[in-house]
Amino acid sequence: QTGMFTYDPGFLSTAACQSSITYIDGDKGELLYRGYPIEQVATQCDFLETCYLILNGELPNEQQKEDFVSLVTNHTMVNEQMQFFLRGFRRDAHPMAVMTGLVGALSAFYHDSIDINNARHREISAIRLIAKMPTLVAMAYKYSIGQLYMYPKNSLSYTGNFMHMMFATPCEEYVPNDVLVRAMDRIFILHADHEQNASTSTVRLCGSSGTNPFAAIAAGVACLWGPAHGGANEACLNMLEEIQAMGGVAKIGEFVTKVKDKNSGVKLMGFGHRVYKNYDPRATLMQETCREVLGYLGVKNDPLLELAMALEKVALEDEYFVSRKLYPNVDFYSGIVQRAIGIPVSLFTAIFALARTVGWIAQLNEMIADPEYKIGRPRQLFTGAIRREVKPMAMR
Ligand code: SDX
Repeated sequence: QTGMFTYDPGFLSTAACQSSITYIDGDKGELLYRGYPIEQVATQCDFLETCYLILNGELPNEQQKEDFVSLVTNHTMVNEQMQFFLRGFRRDAHPMAVMTGLVGALSAFYHDSIDINNARHREISAIRLIAKMPTLVAMAYKYSIGQLYMYPKNSLSYTGNFMHMMFATPCEEYVPNDVLVRAMDRIFILHADHEQNASTSTVRLCGSSGTNPFAAIAAGVACLWGPAHGGANEACLNMLEEIQAMGGVAKIGEFVTKVKDKNSGVKLMGFGHRVYKNYDPRATLMQETCREVLGYLGVKNDPLLELAMALEKVALEDEYFVSRKLYPNVDFYSGIVQRAIGIPVSLFTAIFALARTVGWIAQLNEMIADPEYKIGRPRQLFTGAIRREVKPMAMR
């Protein structure tokens, strides 16, 4: 009761929804994609198998995988006009500003041929978006460094193709390295879906108006950019580099003191989660990937990895973090892995968006396929002025 309106507690229900895609147990630190533990999916499947699972609810058999890979592969190119959208940006524009624009621009090429209520149209939109995101992210990167775009090379794997488009030039071929491709592929898998997070809620709410899927995904890209969400991986690496510049491990205590001072506004980036009040299982897998990549590259003791592990140890033993159930999340180690692979910090969140596109699309399609769905319309609990009359100017 707010004096003006009585509100129906059910109005909260519009902010949540039911889904059969991803299950999270925040207390146990458990994450399942369509019932399969993330630890098994991330180590026994590749990203396109994971996409098939998230979209269709089952892991593909040999033939289903072959057909799906071929479908995605044949949609990796983008309309040549897309390059002219890039030219409107400064070269130093943040890749997430560019990606918000490019993904939204995709709708200009397809919106008039898509009825989101048509299941076949939803399927082909999903394929197009999954296929084209790596091409767009690589184009954003090449534009930022003043290099020519590299066309997709469809003889390569999905992730190998992405790394080819990122690192090859017309003068030099990029031969995808299995260890680094596997690490990149695992980063995609670990970021593929995560239940009703902020950007997925944005995509669902935006798509519930019946807009085209490309526009809805562009809204998700914009939301993901925030440092409290997908922007945390970039912010986390910048935080580690800041502590390193302050003096490294010896300065952890000083930094943690600042974090505990509420007035500082400083957060331990890569720590904490709205749902996990235990270890984020993705952080464990990301740390393992980190060790594999650095070990393969012969990096004996990467100062940032040493620092991250020392910081994690301090935080896990500090009452402030323990009492608030703050543990490393997916973003804590992902930046170190991406940096080792050669991905620039500014591109980390764009890569998160590339990976999360399949989750956004699957969640959007699941909502639209429900005959009962309606346009999202969460209510507000009104706390403003009660009804009153306008006074003539002389009396105000
Ligand atoms: C992602 O939702 C998803 O699923 C998101 C995601 C996905 O896959 O889509 O998992 C991806 O976004 C991971 C989160 C990435 N963000 C960061 O790493 C940024 C740093 N983390 C925080 O900003 C924070 O932890 C949030 C935003 C993630 C959660 O914030 P909450 O909801 O406030 O966390 P909480 O309720 O558990 O906080 C309890 C206390 C509060 O202090 P008190 O009021 O009790 O004194 O812990 C504090 C918070 O201020 N706190 C932190 C902290 N996170 C929470 N203090 C210092 N450093 C932190 N990182």
